[in-house]
Amino acid sequence: MTASNPAWIGSEAILNQLMEIARISALAEMASGIAHELNQPLGAIATFAQAGERMLDRTDPLLEPALDVFRQINHEAMGAGEGIRRIRRLFEHEQATRTPSQMPDVVAELKPVLEMLALRVGGKLHTEAAADLPNLLIDRIKVQHVLFALVQNAFDAAALAAGSAPRVAITIAGDRYAVETSISDSGPGVPAEIQAQLFRPFFTTKSRGTGLGLASSRAIVEAHEGTIGFDVLAGGGSRFWFRLPAAVN
Ligand SMILES: Nc1ncnc2c1ncn2[C@@H]1O[C@H](COP(=O)(O)OP(=O)(O)OP(=O)(O)O)[C@@H](O)[C@H]1O
Ligand SMILES: [Mg+2]
Repeated sequence: MTASNPAWIGSEAILNQLMEIARISALAEMASGIAHELNQPLGAIATFAQAGERMLDRTDPLLEPALDVFRQINHEAMGAGEGIRRIRRLFEHEQATRTPSQMPDVVAELKPVLEMLALRVGGKLHTEAAADLPNLLIDRIKVQHVLFALVQNAFDAAALAAGSAPRVAITIAGDRYAVETSISDSGPGVPAEIQAQLFRPFFTTKSRGTGLGLASSRAIVEAHEGTIGFDVLAGGGSRFWFRLPAAVN
């Protein structure tokens, strides 16, 4: 950072680096976990399959040993399935870290980070919260991950719309049963042909996207017995929302 740069330029570079590191290390960790669980059974399956072929590809096929080899292949494949379930369990959400929270506080705590996302694209973030919202019983960091992912997507989309400065609004509303947080953007909206795929893991339209932002957000919201979705706005742009149930008093 040079002396003439405003102070936030250094922070923005750091934020970019942190986001890149988080993205790459999460992916690398998952990829190596999957590789570790699958390499051994896949190797065994290939070896058994070759042995089976040799047993059957002869004038006097060795049926009994070949049947045995098929059973071994099945056993290895079931083991690989269990390995994948083990990796999934690593990403499951435990109940222990949930605290009673007011959604506006959860958003306010993350505000400096969200403002940084606005700054990166020269955009504006507006926040509005209703009064008298019920408490939520939530894992704050995980819900903040959802906010981060949705606001990041919103600014990514808003930055695509030429002509006007990117605008994103967070609105928190609710009744005694639930709190709904929506993130609206001034972007182009979601094209009809990709609407059904958005929440699928690894679905992305971005050259450097992982396609895990919405998939992980949905997993977190559903682990909180909540729902998540989006509407395409009539005036352009889209509104992503998630609804979390009120804590039972
Ligand atoms: N607010 C939005 N407006 C328009 N399209 C969106 C919006 N949010 C998400 N999308 C679409 O959904 C896709 C999936 O989003 P998701 O957050 O899961 O992954 P990503 O943003 O592509 O990658 P990453 O989150 O790693 O940056 C995006 O690539 C984009 O096409
Ligand atoms: Mg994203």
